[in-house]
Amino acid sequence: MELKTSADTSERTTTLNSPPTHVAIIMDGNGRWAASHGKSRSEGHRAGTENLRRIIEAFIRHGVKCLTLYAFSTENWDRPPDEVNTLLEIVNEVIRSEVQVLHREDIRLRHIGRIDRLSPQLRRSICESIELTKHNSRMTLCVAFDYGGRAEIIDAVRSMITDGVQPEDVSEDMLRRYMYTNGMPDPDLIIRTSGEQRLSNFLIWQAAYAEYYTTPVYWPDFDETEVEKALEAYASRKRRFGKVL
Ligand code: FPP
Repeated sequence: MELKTSADTSERTTTLNSPPTHVAIIMDGNGRWAASHGKSRSEGHRAGTENLRRIIEAFIRHGVKCLTLYAFSTENWDRPPDEVNTLLEIVNEVIRSEVQVLHREDIRLRHIGRIDRLSPQLRRSICESIELTKHNSRMTLCVAFDYGGRAEIIDAVRSMITDGVQPEDVSEDMLRRYMYTNGMPDPDLIIRTSGEQRLSNFLIWQAAYAEYYTTPVYWPDFDETEVEKALEAYASRKRRFGKVL
């Protein structure tokens, strides 16, 4: 993967007033994309993976500082074993082949989700990639893998109990610090491809005030133009955070 540097792409930077700081994406529709092209579901996931580079580049160009990708949910383990294996293989391959590029491009890698059901080798690669890139600052690329919003809340509560947190000390700020996303801003914009209009257990705590954008486009076809449409829709929203403005 060769990401275009900011110098390569500066002429294509748009002038949207305030881009979202954090965009989170539910990359849906790989299976339907595959069916519509006479391909297997695994080929659909591979096409979805090949789409990642141009999307990361596009969001960097538009000034987005944090991008979270929903790659594998806690419920996805119930998919056919072949498909689960393909998704595990993909994440393994992507880490192996792309982490140095991401590091050169000053991109910080994060993982949110459970790690204990992954193989020791995959766990090690994820931890090493996070460690290698932890001081990078151009963008944080957060991969939600074996992630579920409910599992995240349960894990946070368990950790608070283990730490002996007293009920009167529990606050939103404290819970935030116990979430997998500790240190990350809440998502400003959540995009879901393929026409579905559900959150599907994705960032359910953090999305309290996120703007939603859905498009019928399947994930492998979600390109730079689609990124621009999503950002334009976001720019036209009035965010009130429950207040009267
Ligand atoms: C949803 O489409 C997509 C997924 C469950 C997997 C998405 C994962 C990738 C694109 C790989 C990403 C890898 C990294 C390293 C970030 P679906 O299978 O539910 O599609 P369908 O609803 O059309 O069947």
